[in-house]
Amino acid sequence: MAFQIPRGTQDILPSESSKWQYVEQIARELCRRYNYKEIRTPIFEHTELFLRSVGDTTDIVQKEMYTFTDRGGRSITLRPEGTAAVVRSFVENKMYGDPNQPVKLYYLGPMFRYERPQSGRFRQFVQFGVEAIGSNDPAIDAEVIALAMDLYRSLGLKKIKLVINSLGDISSRKAHREALIAHFKGRIHEFCEDCQVRLENNPLRILDCKKDREHELMKTAPSILDYLNEESRAYFEQVKSYLNKLGIPFEVDPRLVRGLDYYNHTAFEIMSEAEGFGAITTLCGGGRYNGLVQEIGGPETPGVGFALSIERLLAALAAEGIALPIEEGIDCYVVALGEEAKKEAVPLVYALRNEGISVEKDYQDRKVKAQFKAADRLQAKYVIIVGEDELARNVANVKNMQTGEQVEVALSELTTYMKKVCKGEY
Ligand code: HAM
Repeated sequence: MAFQIPRGTQDILPSESSKWQYVEQIARELCRRYNYKEIRTPIFEHTELFLRSVGDTTDIVQKEMYTFTDRGGRSITLRPEGTAAVVRSFVENKMYGDPNQPVKLYYLGPMFRYERPQSGRFRQFVQFGVEAIGSNDPAIDAEVIALAMDLYRSLGLKKIKLVINSLGDISSRKAHREALIAHFKGRIHEFCEDCQVRLENNPLRILDCKKDREHELMKTAPSILDYLNEESRAYFEQVKSYLNKLGIPFEVDPRLVRGLDYYNHTAFEIMSEAEGFGAITTLCGGGRYNGLVQEIGGPETPGVGFALSIERLLAALAAEGIALPIEEGIDCYVVALGEEAKKEAVPLVYALRNEGISVEKDYQDRKVKAQFKAADRLQAKYVIIVGEDELARNVANVKNMQTGEQVEVALSELTTYMKKVCKGEY
């Protein structure tokens, strides 16, 4: 019986994993510059955490969570997103008492959602996300957005678009909620069953419905921007003005409501506008979540952040035809001729690797020609040739595969010599 990978998951094979490593390294470097520190939380949490934070009327909670009862009878859920766990950890570890506020954290790891798999949508995907918890300054909203844009731009993406909106504070949302109910109520029977439930529970979620997207009432629905109170409006203006100061272009889309319940004030998404990217164009989503820390049991603390998946980032790079500057080759391949040389190659390779040089040798008992071919396939910059003759004279030949030049080096000097050539000092 042959086993198959579960639907919506993927193996990242070695030919792809170097791209992942490259992107992840750039993301980590950006976090270093912006002073966000890594946090690693468990892959599973108590289910209740997501009901409280993501919201029990959202699609994520209602349809997409991998939830199970563990052997101790607890309801456990594979994390569908990172913010809830980071906020849980913030509260549990009393990070609100840290003198360095806001607390700026980033994470990189797998998330799980039982969604219908399609291009750009997986059941297991890797999110890179940041959360800045503890500041109400609109400048930090702009910083978080700038970090996300910086990542895409530093990887060479050009066809990306930033879309922002404000969901206002609690009182603005209340007024908007009433307007939404009044707008949809009379014709709610024309909407899907979910929306009928949403009308009373959480009418904002109707705007996020995947089934009723084309209904005419969607297009005429009251815009949150018309219901922002003065404070919310002023906050939004400041975020926009900071983005302008940073030279980050954006569009305002009053329909952008996001699929999670914890947002207020700033909400944003970054989309790919590359041709052929596929139906799902959102690369990144985020926003402000001022009530969340309190909801999870901590003191009233504001927060803002985003998350993006590496899968969609790589798809956007492919759609724009961008090749990452990844060096695949190894420094050196040791070709051994004869039984004695074969034995000597083992400690030689070991010694070179200890000096930080990437080295490979033959383990398939290949003939010399095939060993050279293997060196070519591995894109070795140098080949060290060790034969019986050479061994007898305590030397090896080092061939520069680019120039074809070959030099004889004493075995006692070999690691020093290789270190120098591999670092380009010769
Ligand atoms: P989200 O919009 O649910 O927000 O997801 C953020 C990003 O995760 C999406 O823009 C997309 O890149 C990626 N993503 C989501 N689902 C999938 C999937 N099935 N397959 C591949 N990629 C996917 C959040 O998760 C919030 N926690 C973001 C946030 C952080 N807000 C504040 N802080």
